[in-house]
Amino acid sequence: MENILEIENLSLALPSKKGPVPILHNVNLTVEPGKIMGLVGESGSGKSMTAFAVTRLLPGGNRAQLEGSIHLCGRQLLGISEKNMEAIRGRDVSMIFQEPMTCLNPVYTIGTQMTDVIRTHEKITKKEAHTRAVQLLRDVHIRNAEDVFDCYPYELSGGMRQRVMIAMALSCKPKLLIADEPTTALDVTVQAQILYLIKEACRERGTAVLFISHDLGVISEICDRVSVMYSGYIVETGETKDVLSSPRHPYTKALIGALPKVMEDGSRQKLFAIPGMVPDPREKMTGCRFAPRCHRCIAACTEGKLKALDFGNGHKVYCCHPEEG
Ligand SMILES: Nc1ncnc2c1ncn2[C@@H]1O[C@H](COP(=O)(O)OP(=O)(O)OP(=O)(O)O)[C@@H](O)[C@H]1O
Ligand code: SF4
Ligand SMILES: [Mg+2]
Repeated sequence: MENILEIENLSLALPSKKGPVPILHNVNLTVEPGKIMGLVGESGSGKSMTAFAVTRLLPGGNRAQLEGSIHLCGRQLLGISEKNMEAIRGRDVSMIFQEPMTCLNPVYTIGTQMTDVIRTHEKITKKEAHTRAVQLLRDVHIRNAEDVFDCYPYELSGGMRQRVMIAMALSCKPKLLIADEPTTALDVTVQAQILYLIKEACRERGTAVLFISHDLGVISEICDRVSVMYSGYIVETGETKDVLSSPRHPYTKALIGALPKVMEDGSRQKLFAIPGMVPDPREKMTGCRFAPRCHRCIAACTEGKLKALDFGNGHKVYCCHPEEG
C-alpha cells in the first residue's frame, strides 16, 4: 500500500547566533493509510521538530535548513512555496497538540473557529459548514454538540477542549494526522477516551497517524509501528509488538526498563531511570550519540557512521553492539 507520509534521509539544522545547529540526522519514517506510527523518545530527542518539519512550522521560519525528502501523498514537500504549504496544512495534514489552546482562539466560539477552518479549505455555505461542524463534534462523542458549538473555549474542560481540537483537525478530512503528546496533560480516564477517538478516526476514515509521545505505555496501546528517536536519530523502528517484546537497541531497552511498574498495592513506581541526559545538539560526537550512557558501548560505537541491522518484519536497528533478542 502506498505510504501517506514518507520521510527519507531528513536532516534539519536550526539557525542560531553561532551558526546552524543540527537537530535531525538522516531521519527515515513512513506512515501508511489507516495505521498509527508512534515516535517515542526522551525530552529533547527531536520528536516535535520532526513533526514541524513535515508541517513546515519550524522555529526560524525559512532560515531552518532541511535536506532529504518528505513526500505527503506522493508529493514532495521540500522546496514548495509557503503559499502551497498553507493549503496543504489543514487539508492534507493537520496537527493536534498537548495544549488545545495552542490551536483554539480564546475570543471566538468553537463554532466560529470550526466553520472558519472548514470554509478556508472548501467552498461551502455557512449553513453547510455549521451542519458539518456539529456532526464532527458528535463524531468525537460530544453529546450536547449544538451547545458546545456556541461555547467559548474557556467554558469547556480540558478533555472537552481536546475533543474539539481533534474535531477541528479532522474537519477537512486530512490524509495525515500528527498528534504531538495529545494526552500527556490529561488524567488516565480522559486519556483513554482520547486515544480511542484517535484510533477510531484512523480506522473509520483511513487517516494515517503520526503519534508522538515520550510514554511507551501509551505507544504500546495505540501504535501499529513505532520509531524510537534519540538525539535527532531514529535508532530503532518496527512493529510495536516486535520492538517492545524484543528491543535490540540499548536505548529502547533502557526506555522500557524505565517504565513505571505496578506494585502489589496497585501503586506505580519507577524503579530505574536512564543515567545521564540527551546531549545538547551543538555537542559534536563521532558515531553513536547514546555512547556516554550505554552499558554495551564498545570501541566501534564511537568510530564512524552506524549501519542499519535488519531483524526482519521491518524491525531495523542502528547499533554496533545490539542487545540479544
Ligand atoms: N526554537 C528552537 N531553537 C533552537 N533549538 C530548538 C528550538 N526548539 C527546540 N530546539 C532543540 O531541538 C531539539 C529537539 O527538540 P524537540 O522539541 O523536537 O524535542 P522533543 O523530542 O519534542 O522533546 P519533548 O518531549 O520535550 O517535547 C532539542 O535539543 C531542543 O533544544
Ligand atoms: S552503537 Fe554502541 S554505544 Fe550506541 S547504543 Fe549501540 S552498543 Fe550502545
Ligand atoms: Mg515535543
